[in-house]
Amino acid sequence: MDIAHFTGLDENPLLAGLRLTRTPEPAIMVIFGASGDLTQRKLMPALYNLTREGLLPAQFVVVGVARTEMDDTAFRAKMHAAVVEHSRSGDPTPIVWESFANRLFYLPLKTYDDTPSYDALSARLAELDTRFGVGGNRLFYLSTPPSVAGEIIDGLDHARLANTSNGWRRIIVEKPFGYDIDSSRALNGQLLRVFSEDEVFRIDHYLGKETVQNLLVLRFANAIFEPIWNHRYVDHVQITVAEQVGVEERGGYYDGAGALRDIIQNHGLQLLSLTAMEPPIDFDARQVRDEKLKVLLSVRMPGPVEAARQTVRGQYTAGIIGGAPAPGYGEEPGVKPASTTETYVAMQLELETWRWAGVPFYLRTGKRLPKRATEIAIEFRSPPLILFPTASLGSVRPNLLVINIQPDEGVSIRFEAKVPGQTMWMRPVYMDFRYGATFAEQQPEAYERLILDALLGDATLFTRADEVEAQWQIIQPILDGWQHAPPPEGYPAGSWGPARADAFIEAGRRRWRRL
Ligand SMILES: NC(=O)c1ccc[n+]([C@@H]2O[C@H](COP(=O)([O-])OP(=O)(O)OC[C@H]3O[C@@H](n4cnc5c(N)ncnc54)[C@H](OP(=O)(O)O)[C@@H]3O)[C@@H](O)[C@H]2O)c1
Repeated sequence: MDIAHFTGLDENPLLAGLRLTRTPEPAIMVIFGASGDLTQRKLMPALYNLTREGLLPAQFVVVGVARTEMDDTAFRAKMHAAVVEHSRSGDPTPIVWESFANRLFYLPLKTYDDTPSYDALSARLAELDTRFGVGGNRLFYLSTPPSVAGEIIDGLDHARLANTSNGWRRIIVEKPFGYDIDSSRALNGQLLRVFSEDEVFRIDHYLGKETVQNLLVLRFANAIFEPIWNHRYVDHVQITVAEQVGVEERGGYYDGAGALRDIIQNHGLQLLSLTAMEPPIDFDARQVRDEKLKVLLSVRMPGPVEAARQTVRGQYTAGIIGGAPAPGYGEEPGVKPASTTETYVAMQLELETWRWAGVPFYLRTGKRLPKRATEIAIEFRSPPLILFPTASLGSVRPNLLVINIQPDEGVSIRFEAKVPGQTMWMRPVYMDFRYGATFAEQQPEAYERLILDALLGDATLFTRADEVEAQWQIIQPILDGWQHAPPPEGYPAGSWGPARADAFIEAGRRRWRRL
């Protein structure tokens, strides 16, 4: 059928059919750590918006679990306040909220390793399952600090809640996935003793972002980019995750982690794999993740000494951001005053593949930078021969393709254009696509997409055990090398990072983009 003349989803029977197929089966979702920040800021608003858009079945039940004492009524009130404050759709519509809240429950645990608490949970789930006609499916969400993940997995195992004799079982695990290669292997071991790999959904919320998925569409649903997406045409790639904020209330956690673990180990390397991967033979979880894994395995990893040399560490000092004074990292609440944790990291990676040999991939991330921006910038080679008089070339710059991930999602291409007039003067111009300007639809939050995918059993946008391990194999030598390297260099809050980061990229005759 020719669908070109259909304009909207409602008129388009094929697309309407697709939407229907994305309604998951009935299930109970159990959120551990439901008294916490993530549940309020992300999970509840996402679940409410999925309900509002009719994407969840009527027999969908949510049970919050944590140590904090609360009853169902108090939990519902807390979650209502959370949705009011954080939902992209504003204040909840009363009728939708009522229907959602009627299927929202809370169960306090004594401690996360208290086995009778899991027996009580099992009994409560059985009762709710019968009351709402759920049919046995369970999605567990670990929204707790990683230190208790093992206890929860053991508790589920003890109460036979991971048993699949009746309906499916799935578990979503939040980042950070381990603290280093050994702890990540240990966590995978704990999970895979009780669940099978296809039941484990390791979340990296960057993969739920529309623009990140659009990177795959840009590359694999268009014919013009792929032929030039390789070392013959690409000079280098810059992946930037810049944050304007400092550590906020997460000082205690962040001080034990740092920028390399917090951003590069997961988001940075996931963006790298999506940018560099080969076309998968199919858009399904196995094929997409196989191709992403190959990218990670192709990263040339030197020993710790050289690995440390291929990176730059920084830590912000007091400065000015957005016209206001900002404290130095050591003065932040929860941070040890003499801490040597990095709040900035820049690094160069090389992929040993036919497609990318010789093309540097630069990754950088930092806190208290002048602006919040996440982007992937692909800079192309200069033309082999310049035909125009050198006098006109003052501003000639190589072509650039930028995928903006946040905050202004879109794609832009830079190319040279002639400035109108009698002289052959040229300057770079931009062709811009902005999501917000082109599509009237509000973009779903990453967590909406990812929770729905997990309920549907689609793991394409989640990280597989071997991917996580390959990510740590890249990061671990750097962590080891840093043990014997000088401490991070200071950079004033509000600047683009330590001076050495500039010298680092300039040594390869390139420059960081000024965003
Ligand atoms: N918040 C975010 O924006 C965000 C973003 C990305 C990833 N994450 C990840 O998501 C998970 C949850 O994040 P969150 O910000 O919601 O964490 P959180 O507020 O610190 O913790 C969630 C809940 O876990 C329980 N808890 C906290 N510390 C504990 C401890 N030491 N031992 C046992 N239980 C403890 C608390 O509930 P009870 O005391 O009531 O048991 C708390 O309400 C973490 O793994 C985090 O790294 C969070």
